[in-house]
Amino acid sequence: MELRPFLEKLPKAELHVHIEGTLEPELSFALAQKNNVSLQAKTPQEMIAAYNFHDLPSFLDIYYAGMSVLKDESDFYQLTMHYLRKAATQNIVYVELFFDPQAHTSRGVSFDTVINGIHRARSDAAAELSVQTNLILCFLRDMSAESAMEHLMMAQPHLDKIIGVGLDSDEKNNPPAKFSAVFEKARSMGLKLTMHCDVNQDNTLEHIRQVIEDIGVDRIDHGVNILESEALCNLAREKKLGLTVCPVSNRFVVQSLTSAEIKKMLQYGLMPCINSDDPSYFRAYLNENFIALQEEGDFTVKELVTLAENSFKASWLPDAQKQAYLADLQDYVSEYQEI
Ligand code: HPA
Ligand code: ZN
Repeated sequence: MELRPFLEKLPKAELHVHIEGTLEPELSFALAQKNNVSLQAKTPQEMIAAYNFHDLPSFLDIYYAGMSVLKDESDFYQLTMHYLRKAATQNIVYVELFFDPQAHTSRGVSFDTVINGIHRARSDAAAELSVQTNLILCFLRDMSAESAMEHLMMAQPHLDKIIGVGLDSDEKNNPPAKFSAVFEKARSMGLKLTMHCDVNQDNTLEHIRQVIEDIGVDRIDHGVNILESEALCNLAREKKLGLTVCPVSNRFVVQSLTSAEIKKMLQYGLMPCINSDDPSYFRAYLNENFIALQEEGDFTVKELVTLAENSFKASWLPDAQKQAYLADLQDYVSEYQEI
């Protein structure tokens, strides 16, 4: 069986994609011109050539600098619509999208501008593209817990637009425990919880322990190092915690696609799924992640289908909707195997 077309048409969900990490160079240039922002690069090709990250901080520098072109609501609308159009072409039927409000309010762009632009695109994408989405507000862990709490309060009038909260940015010296009060408050507001545990960070096992035992997250972003602790693997399995792994992102940040680790997660009965993280910067959307993984790891069809199933199972959709997507996925697999 030819796996590339099978993977390309496979219905799937994406649970770990930062909307700001989908900003393509061409759109950057268009928005820079509209908003009178000057860019260092002269062409989109030159911009891509400067993507020379090799670890998390060197990526984050370029990622935050790129956001300077996003100014008004229509910019956030265009950014989101652009990604969701791409998602539709990759047979991504459901997305839980991260956004980083502090990276915008710190530049003088209001929380309402950001969320209203993204939300309008979500409505249009549901109607025009049949791509369903939910939104996850991410706090920047290298900013203070007070700032995170202020942004959670800004989100209060928009709770109907947000399904959960997350934690991203530079993990070094910024443990999950720093944000325990903010996450407790978010939980009390009815929000789901996830946190990044980036790969090979200092104190990674203690961070993973904190997110599971102390914060009580509903999912873990990345979390690949969990394999180093049998006790943590047992906990994650008992709690049926999804792990949103991002192979091509890992290749940039820790120089490995982590295909062997993803296989091990499946063998250990954990619930990994595949994601793109920041697809414009890493030059790979979700299908390219699946294909790169398959090429390196020689996954079986069954394993690949399990990874796609996990993307729905680990989502925060109501059970009936999960089951409906899983049934569509099963139909697709059965029909494909008959050909
Ligand atoms: N890790 C931490 N912060 C991020 C990431 C990531 O993978 N992507 C965007 N911000
Ligand atoms: Zn991420």
